[in-house]
Amino acid sequence: MSVSIATRKKAESLRDQIRHHNHRYHVLDDPEIPDAEYDRLLRELVALEAEHAELVSADSPTQRVGDTPLSAFGTVQHELPMLSLGNAFSEDELRDFHRRVLDRLELDDQAELIYAAEPKLDGAAVSLMYENGVLARGATRGDGTKGEDITHNVRTIEAVPLRLIGKGYPARLEVRGEVFMPKAGFEAYNAKARAAGEKTFVNPRNAAAGSLRQLDPKLTAERPLDMYAYSIGVAAGGHLPTRHSEIIDRLRDWGIKVCPERCVVNGVEGCLAFYRSMGERRNELSYEMDGVVYKVDSLQMQAELGFVSRAPRWAIAHKFPAQEELTVVEDVEFQVGRTGAVTPVARLKPVFVGGVTVSNATLHNIEELHRKDVRIGDTVIVRRAGDVIPEVASVILDRRPKGTRRIQLPKNCPVCNSHVVREEGEAVARCTAGVFCAAQRTEALKHFVSRRALDIEGFGAKLVEQLVATDRLKTPADIFQLSSGELAELDRMGKKSADNLMRSIQASKSTTLARFLFALGIREVGEATAASIAAHFGSLDNVVAATEQDLQSVRDVGPVVATRVKSFFAEAHNLEVIARLREYGVVWPESDPIEATEDGVLFGKTFVITGTLPTMTRDAAKDLIQSAAGKVTSSISAKTDYLVAGEKAGSKLSKAEKLKVAILDEAALLDLISR
Ligand code: IVH
Repeated sequence: MSVSIATRKKAESLRDQIRHHNHRYHVLDDPEIPDAEYDRLLRELVALEAEHAELVSADSPTQRVGDTPLSAFGTVQHELPMLSLGNAFSEDELRDFHRRVLDRLELDDQAELIYAAEPKLDGAAVSLMYENGVLARGATRGDGTKGEDITHNVRTIEAVPLRLIGKGYPARLEVRGEVFMPKAGFEAYNAKARAAGEKTFVNPRNAAAGSLRQLDPKLTAERPLDMYAYSIGVAAGGHLPTRHSEIIDRLRDWGIKVCPERCVVNGVEGCLAFYRSMGERRNELSYEMDGVVYKVDSLQMQAELGFVSRAPRWAIAHKFPAQEELTVVEDVEFQVGRTGAVTPVARLKPVFVGGVTVSNATLHNIEELHRKDVRIGDTVIVRRAGDVIPEVASVILDRRPKGTRRIQLPKNCPVCNSHVVREEGEAVARCTAGVFCAAQRTEALKHFVSRRALDIEGFGAKLVEQLVATDRLKTPADIFQLSSGELAELDRMGKKSADNLMRSIQASKSTTLARFLFALGIREVGEATAASIAAHFGSLDNVVAATEQDLQSVRDVGPVVATRVKSFFAEAHNLEVIARLREYGVVWPESDPIEATEDGVLFGKTFVITGTLPTMTRDAAKDLIQSAAGKVTSSISAKTDYLVAGEKAGSKLSKAEKLKVAILDEAALLDLISR
């Protein structure tokens, strides 16, 4: 059956719209439409392409993730070699570089020399070949001459356009850049892997490189990868500007993502100012960099300067202090945290890494310690990236001394001697004593007074430790019974600081429900969850009275969090502390709970969602149902009106069938909502 012109046009128009919104969202970070609207466009295109297979083209936004894993990577011969960069580790080395550039160009000291300055991204280099604006091939750098064909994987990266936008790009254009895993994605990925007892990535660079070298593109698609372009290779059939910085601007116009922190600077002083400014911003930026790169901006000058061996004479990487160093494990101890988690910590021979001297590093949990098999006496790589806590990344097995032993989890809490247990399927071991363990109590109190919780200024960790050790502080409520005289007697405290502290304690009493909920330190209830629960229920009494089902209707609250909240408020001693806190004057504004409005088409209907839906995540489906005033819960009962079931729906599906609950697929759900 041939496809009508109208249908073809419709498909092309949908693709254009989707490409436009992809670009706004992934490249410019500035979406124009809500996610639900984007999903609708994509679903419409998916449906159209499913009906007319001949409409599907390789550059269609529906074709990012291929079906079939490869059995091996093909080889790609780079038409122009992919070079590396020389390094400068100090200001002097940078000045030497600049001097050599001036000499070769026969310029004097005072001459203006413009450099393009860019972060040196810490990921994996890739080459993307666009033919007539369509992504034709992606390759790794390999040895610089030959790389691996990773087209199927780069296609899954949303920041990589499958087709260029705008006008004037060369008919053959090779874009080069760095694929990287943003810090947040890296941390989240590792946290999840750690909790599941799976292998973690050593650093974001390995994470990016490893993700690109997957034979199955579906695995790459699950990794949070991003890309910034930093140069071009082959460019044939078109005109390009004569400065590096302008070429990068053009790439941006053609829909390629480029680093927003790039800059043009004058001379070595300009380079150094950029280096310092990036050094200061390094921790706050969303991606990892191991230095900055300066490139002579004029292509004419670049050509005059040429290359030495594999590196250009016109560019240099100015490195930041290393974030990974070698040191020796002197001991391994176990610390007890706020929720009782027993965390192994390596005591290290002090080492300067990531700009500070590190003598302790976390080993996260016993399972991870065993997987890495860290032993006393081992030489290890410690990693400290920004404000992330230092960790032992890996062991250099070759350097292991004789006679070392595997480290075992202690059977009893090192602080209170209660039993330590590790629940089935959990990587984390915990002290079972709860607030009866001094360590847990101390950590809970530190959390309570911390900046994001009750925010009691001047109430530091040392102070909490002293007050707990002397039994003056047992619960958060005791804070509000401390007297100025009592505080003034403590170490490193005088009358004046005691008075100041009393004032901050007083000031902290007027807070918000979100802060208060967060301060309580309920397991799994972080700042964002506390805020959602507070907004949803409006008052503490409503939260306390909420059933697990009620709790699950809050955004981001699933069965685990709901159970934690419910069991926290089921403990008499917790309610008692809360009552005392209120009695001492801790207050927050309260409001009415968010009621489901009766205007929504799904008002009064209860849904359960299960399995993998074809185009949206379960959270997106939950949002959609709630926005139409429906209720979403996690378990099926006779009260459930609909089960929304995707692929791999398990026991919930059979239960729904048994209870004769109506079953919807994603399309039927959308249908119901749009009615
Ligand atoms: S330019 C001829 N710019 O660093 C210059 N490279 O050591 C070729 N890198 O393989 C590279 N950020 O993976 C350039 N802004 C940037 C970079 C960058 C990271 C990586 C790239 C390259 C390696 C060279």
